[in-house]
Amino acid sequence: MTPLELVNLAIEAREHAYVPYSGFAVGAALLTKDGKVYQGCNIENSAFGPTNCAERTAFFTAVYQGERDFEAIAIVGGREGQPVSDLCAPCGVCRQVMREFCKNDFKIYLSKGDGDVLTYTLSDLLPLSFSKDDLNR
Ligand code: THU
Repeated sequence: MTPLELVNLAIEAREHAYVPYSGFAVGAALLTKDGKVYQGCNIENSAFGPTNCAERTAFFTAVYQGERDFEAIAIVGGREGQPVSDLCAPCGVCRQVMREFCKNDFKIYLSKGDGDVLTYTLSDLLPLSFSKDDLNR
């Protein structure tokens, strides 16, 4: 699975977004260490707070299925009904959820949908993080 293939699965997942309030559709594709992919989209709610981001939909689906070892996630977002044209970086809450299940070298692929993929690590996007390692010290 190449980074671009994972991005394309995130673009596909984005089609499932339920975004009647923001109109901003996000898709994610989460790759496990053994090569399985779990897709997710954002799912909004009229009370706003219960909205779930695409990344967390992908993580929670995978964790429910028993997955615990993750290699990378691809994330794309943009106005619903339009092609992706800008980068969509994960929100702070999703970065912290990634940290629960991933080490600092977990890879995050972002794309403007133009065939280019930018690669970050979790420690790039969540430096000096707090995790269960801190609790166990
Ligand atoms: N959103 C995501 O799905 N992932 C992110 O990391 C950024 C924000 C969603 C939440 C909400 O449905 C919409 O984008 C606008 O914030």
